[in-house]
Amino acid sequence: MKALVLAGGSGTRLRPITYTSAKQLVPLANKPILFFGLESIAAAGIREVGIIVGDTHADIESAVGDGSRFGLDVTYLRQDEPRGLAHAVLIARDFLAGDPFVMYLGDNLVVGGIDRFVRAFEESSSDALVLVTKVANPEQFGVAELDPDGRVVRLVEKPADPASDLALVGVYIFDSAVHEAVRAIRPSARGELEITEAIQWLVDAGRSVSTEVLTTPWIDTGKLQDLLEANRIVLDRLETGPVTAVEGTVDSESHVSGPVVLEAGATLLRSTVRGPVVVGAGTRIEDSFVGPYTSIGAGCTVRDSSVEHAVLMDGAEIDGVERLCDSLVGRGASVRRAHERPPALRLHIGDHSEVRLG
Ligand code: G1P
Repeated sequence: MKALVLAGGSGTRLRPITYTSAKQLVPLANKPILFFGLESIAAAGIREVGIIVGDTHADIESAVGDGSRFGLDVTYLRQDEPRGLAHAVLIARDFLAGDPFVMYLGDNLVVGGIDRFVRAFEESSSDALVLVTKVANPEQFGVAELDPDGRVVRLVEKPADPASDLALVGVYIFDSAVHEAVRAIRPSARGELEITEAIQWLVDAGRSVSTEVLTTPWIDTGKLQDLLEANRIVLDRLETGPVTAVEGTVDSESHVSGPVVLEAGATLLRSTVRGPVVVGAGTRIEDSFVGPYTSIGAGCTVRDSSVEHAVLMDGAEIDGVERLCDSLVGRGASVRRAHERPPALRLHIGDHSEVRLG
């Protein structure tokens, strides 16, 4: 069994962060989303992984390297443009060499791992296995219609009128039959070769496509709200780990209530941190409150501010901000109060940024 991880795509819904960084590297609890997937693949006993990369290949390659830190052997496969998930299978054909494989979308968070789905596929005689989960907004995903035995009857990509509330999760398992399917289909209305259509082709060709229902949380982190929710889910799971891991420095006027991870060299001065929270290496928090579900990257400064339910990427600076919440702040970005009279907003923000004033 091999794995094919998709880490191309342009991440338009996460601009401006994705102008300068791959969407699969946006951190959840200070760890790139992509790493959660790679860890799950390694935990399922898979070693050989092909990663599909696009314009952001240099970022992905320097973050993941040869994969050895995950116990994986990684090969990079270049996709010239985001031409769809089935196109990724098309260009990975030589790498896959007819072996069964897991296809894993690098911006998906699947809590609980994929081990049991890999085992279920291996024990079945199916040509493909898809993961489905109940969602409130099926029209935004591929949607599966199943027969009473859980076999796929029909799959439709983002239907206006969904036949069920079962969305296709971004983890699929295939045998070599899929190669014929991805060659047979044509680009969809959005100009992409859809894996949903390739799987439907398998069903129509009389191949067996089975399903497994995912009951643990799943998030496709394409948009800000989903990303914050994924960060919340990962931080919530800190509760099962060490209650408070303090590698940094906490002065006598600060209060930490767990679960809080303070990485090496993080400093708390006259501040309150109420977990679940992670604070990256070398970050300084002064005269501030950091509330639940906040991930603060390395080398950040939070001064005289209150931050909650937010992701601050490395090197961000927050100064004099009364209440920052539900926010994603990019690397090296700053939000500072200027204490001018009369008060004025002075912005220097990237294309497609969003600022909401309370
Ligand atoms: C893709 C698939 C869709 C699936 C989703 C899961 O959508 O086409 O069927 O439900 O991933 O994340 P996309 O992210 O390309 O819109």
